Amino acid sequence: MSQCVRFITRCMALPLACVISSGCDRPDPANRPLRPSEVLDFGVLYAQNCSGCHGADGKLGPAPPLNDSLFLAMASDADLQRVIAEGRPGTPMSAFARSAGGGLTPQQVTAIVSGMRSKWSAATTRPAAPLSPYLTQVGHGTATAGAAVFSRNCAICHGANGEGASKAGAVNSPAFLALITDQALRRIVITGRPDLGMPDYQHAADGAARPTPLNEQEISDVVALLASWRQTAAQQSGQVAQAAGASR
Ligand code: HEC
Ligand code: HEC
Repeated sequence: MSQCVRFITRCMALPLACVISSGCDRPDPANRPLRPSEVLDFGVLYAQNCSGCHGADGKLGPAPPLNDSLFLAMASDADLQRVIAEGRPGTPMSAFARSAGGGLTPQQVTAIVSGMRSKWSAATTRPAAPLSPYLTQVGHGTATAGAAVFSRNCAICHGANGEGASKAGAVNSPAFLALITDQALRRIVITGRPDLGMPDYQHAADGAARPTPLNEQEISDVVALLASWRQTAAQQSGQVAQAAGASR
């Protein structure tokens, strides 16, 4: 097959490349488009695979912001690699590693993690104070204790039972809770969503003044409360009537 035929075949797949290119007469092998698996540029990889959910600059997307100083300080490279490679089953966050059915090579996953660290401004403004651990502490919290934490800290914006109020939307809705893990809830409680106006609750272990810090137990408790709302919603939709309301 001639260079030219191959070029035309590629043109059919990539019309834009065709318009920009000078045509078939002098194909330069050095200019051939990278195969998808060869792309290692963070900006390209992020725009193609992540920005639709996590926002163009890692903020203001429907999914948790990644360009966030508390988040980037809490999560280790290994944590980030694992989430990107394996995804979060049961949520829109799919597995991106080829070994897990996704489209990215191990080098590409690494390139994304190092790009998040080196290209985003939030990565350079790491807080000095020790942070709560990133990963959910399974079985650590109780919904009953969480209800008190919620009334004190969250109800003012999210409503007494998480039903939403003028300052912020509902956090007890079945549609919302069905698609988010306890891990992501924990992370949102700790880091807030500064891009949307939700404050952070980072516990400053050094005692530095933060407006409204929550300690490790309080964070686990309030996450257990949100998780109990998810279960209540599932039970209600499954028509298990006697469970509804009882677990509040
Ligand atoms: C000062 C007001 C305020 C307080 C206090 C507050 N939030 Fe929020 N929260 C927001 C805003 C604003 C959003 C953005 C979405 C919206 O408008 O509902 C949000 C979003 C969320 C989300 C969804 C995040 C997402 O990515 O969709 C969760 C979960 C949440 N808050 C939990 C809590 C919990 C738990 C507390 C208490 C520990 C709390 N919030 C305290 C304002 C607040
Ligand atoms: C279809 C939407 C979607 C796409 C595309 C997507 N994500 Fe996600 N991502 C999510 C959601 C939703 C979550 C939260 C999942 C949960 O509930 O735990 C998430 C979670 C994450 C987390 C963990 C965040 C935390 O708060 O713990 C990381 C890191 C992450 N994604 C990175 C990426 C990267 C990098 C890409 C591109 C290679 C990507 N995501 C593409 C939706 C998406």
